[in-house]
Amino acid sequence: MEDKAWSKRTRYCGTLRRDDVGSEVTLNGWVQRRRDHGGVIFIDLRDVTGLVQVVFNPEISAAAHAAAGEVRGEYVLSCRGVVRARPEDSVNPRLPTGEVEVMAEELSIINTSLTPPFEIEEDSGVDEALRLRYRYLDIRRPDLRDSLILRSRVTGEVRGFLSSRGFLEIETPVLTKSTPEGARDFVVPSRLQPGKFYALPQSPQLFKQLLMVAGLDRYYQIARCFRDEDMRADRQLEFTQIDLEMSFVEPGDVISLMDEMFAHIFRAVLGVELETPFPRMTWHEAMARYGTDRPDTRFGMEIGDLSGSFASSGFKVFRSALDGGGRIRGFVVEGLAAPPRRELDGLVEEAQRLGASGLVWMVREGEGLKSPVAKFLSEEEVAVILRREDLPEGGVLVLAAGSAEIDPILAGMREYCARRFAPAPAERFSFVWVTDFPLFDWDEEEKRYKSNHHPFTSPSRECLEYLEERPLEVTSDSYDMVLNGIELGGGSIRIYDPELQDRVFRLLGLSREEAEEKFGFLLEALRYGPPPHGGIAYGLDRIVMLMAGRDSIRDVIAFPKTQSGADLLSGAPDAVYPDQLKELRLRPT
Ligand code: AMO
Repeated sequence: MEDKAWSKRTRYCGTLRRDDVGSEVTLNGWVQRRRDHGGVIFIDLRDVTGLVQVVFNPEISAAAHAAAGEVRGEYVLSCRGVVRARPEDSVNPRLPTGEVEVMAEELSIINTSLTPPFEIEEDSGVDEALRLRYRYLDIRRPDLRDSLILRSRVTGEVRGFLSSRGFLEIETPVLTKSTPEGARDFVVPSRLQPGKFYALPQSPQLFKQLLMVAGLDRYYQIARCFRDEDMRADRQLEFTQIDLEMSFVEPGDVISLMDEMFAHIFRAVLGVELETPFPRMTWHEAMARYGTDRPDTRFGMEIGDLSGSFASSGFKVFRSALDGGGRIRGFVVEGLAAPPRRELDGLVEEAQRLGASGLVWMVREGEGLKSPVAKFLSEEEVAVILRREDLPEGGVLVLAAGSAEIDPILAGMREYCARRFAPAPAERFSFVWVTDFPLFDWDEEEKRYKSNHHPFTSPSRECLEYLEERPLEVTSDSYDMVLNGIELGGGSIRIYDPELQDRVFRLLGLSREEAEEKFGFLLEALRYGPPPHGGIAYGLDRIVMLMAGRDSIRDVIAFPKTQSGADLLSGAPDAVYPDQLKELRLRPT
């Protein structure tokens, strides 16, 4: 089969249009479908650009027609013929090539194929495990193929944009020392130094800072990162960052450059004009208005504080929350009016699923309020709620009472209500910057402070004087970009003063020795004239997922892993030979 002559294409299948009528073309591609109409055979021939209908008429070429009779799905063909306009009644408006067809004069079968284990069709509803096992066939499907094309165009535009702004693309090591991004490391045993291990980078964080110390001014990399953490729709064990770092900058410089970069990518790749600058809000504001640091701003349903309205409430749940220093917060559900009881019960169930002990709902019904807690409310409390202009007749207000633990519940309820009731958002893409995150979080289990971002993030200048006294009130020069409720990227201005870095390590409970042990090379570099610097890293997979309108990053990664970390195609992870273990001085368990 292999040495059989075949002709190279002169055109791609998916590019043929009415203007091409009359021209002779040679196509190379795969058989999407073959239909034998007794006498005339139709083959839809597919390549990376799409498909076109090829017609085999024995009156035009008996040999080509006979060969077409042998063809099966996914065979690889080379076919020469003449483009003609399809007869009026067989024009296919759903197909970009639907106005034309190719009248075949010559056909060679370049290769045969086994019958694929699933139909190579858009959204064919096939089990994902099977698709992953035969990923090379899955990628022949137009939606996955187009996602990968989109991905490549995005990286192309990123490279073009950043290099036009003076960024140098520089690779950093993959076999390296652990980077502190907070997830578990993947480790690689060293053969040359038995008993020692490399860590795969969770991000190029330390190296990009070193490149700034090295004076390279602006760095970027499309970088593979590895984090041994539980997978979700937007998380994989290995993923790709658009990673960058800049010298002599403040947060606003990074933010406005990134606004420009995203406007550029969306215009170049999707033809979508984004309005810049993207809105910015502080972390405190995001938590107050949305209960989360990654708000989906395509929807309203902003969370309000109703503690004042219930300040003298006799209702037990409200009373004990307020007495315990907590708050009563909630929002009016968009798109839900005079709902049946079942829907209201559904709201409570969802809140419980999110970990709440309960959720209070109130529905405006004429001059009164319908609510399971109505009987515990005073007339004045009811009157205050009824005075709300944002609560229409039949409108639903949901409320939670407590301390910080109610934030994720209200945020989750907002997402649930957006999915379930809210009208489709007017905006397809809603970007927002969330800035000034707390420098530290308190880890209740380990009873110690942890970096909210990473330990090299600079505290905001105005907080330095109470860094040690009130660490949890200290904010940082940090920023996350959020799109439609998904964190696309995050970054910060870094500490460039070794003494300040020491203070932060001490607060994190790292002794000088431990810090030296872990990041000594960075601390040392910080003593050799580091410039003020900062940067950001984006999850490329997430960007492409949202641009492609997919729900999972698996749909925009050529060879992703399953929930349990398996590559179903290659069979990784797998055992290795005993000799390999021996060489590495490792013992099988
Ligand atoms: P961070 O840890 O916030 O920051 O990561 C940056 C972005 O990377 C993406 N991301 C992931 N994508 C897929 N799967 C994962 N497991 C995964 N983990 C993270 C997210 C996230 O916003 N070095 C810092 C950046 C900096 O400070 O410059 C860092 O890595 O989209």
